[in-house]
Amino acid sequence: MRVVILPTEQEASDFAADFIEKLIIEKENAVLGLATGSSVLLTYEALIKKYQSGEMSFKNITTFNLDEYIGLQPDHTQSYRHYMNRKLFNHIDIDHKKTYIPECFNKDYESSCESYESKVRENGGIDLQLLGIGTNGHIGFNEPTSSLSSRTRVKTLTQNTIKNNSRFFENNEVQPSIAITMGIGTIMEAQNIILIGLGKHKSKAVADLQNHRNAVVVLDNLAASNLKLYDYYIHTEKMYLEYMC
Ligand code: F6R
Repeated sequence: MRVVILPTEQEASDFAADFIEKLIIEKENAVLGLATGSSVLLTYEALIKKYQSGEMSFKNITTFNLDEYIGLQPDHTQSYRHYMNRKLFNHIDIDHKKTYIPECFNKDYESSCESYESKVRENGGIDLQLLGIGTNGHIGFNEPTSSLSSRTRVKTLTQNTIKNNSRFFENNEVQPSIAITMGIGTIMEAQNIILIGLGKHKSKAVADLQNHRNAVVVLDNLAASNLKLYDYYIHTEKMYLEYMC
């Protein structure tokens, strides 16, 4: 696992955007796994800038989002579909028909989950999965205790996650407590993973991370501040840039 520690949130996010750009240059019809939340926002802004300046195009890209709240219609302002349109898809040349988000608006959740898994497979699997991490270590909505071989399914959110995400909801808005999420098993099948950790409140969760064969973890200094091997990671990245690039 490559751990890249950069001084600021902006630099960590620019690194993630460059990483995604590189993949798309190599594979213009790449399949991206995407996340919502605050950790990925600056990365999405950087990608939009790259598109606007003509550096890259998303026209042949397919995307699969990690998760969606059960109970929110896609046009609900707190749905992840709405978030993705607002924060990324409406600003780039992606074909909206090729942007997938788990379907939570018909009651047959089991078949929604199965068809999501099939869609990922039909598209050849995920080339690069972008991840944030919850303060309790969740990725997607795979809360602690999720099976490492779990697939896309309905998951009940922990009180910790509900509390953390309440910042996005108005006082009078109902906040869902269940969601459909890709499983850890689904995520682990991605060819590459890039996980973004920003801020001191993530430092405990990132210190507990496990391995994937091609995972890059990009952290700002604050999120890295609990890493026992901080100095080693800084040194290793220097070596990586010197000898591997
Ligand atoms: C959302 C998702 C979540 C978030 C995590 C961190 O699609 O996958 O796992 O990445 O809750 O959220 P932020 O970035 O808001 O701290």
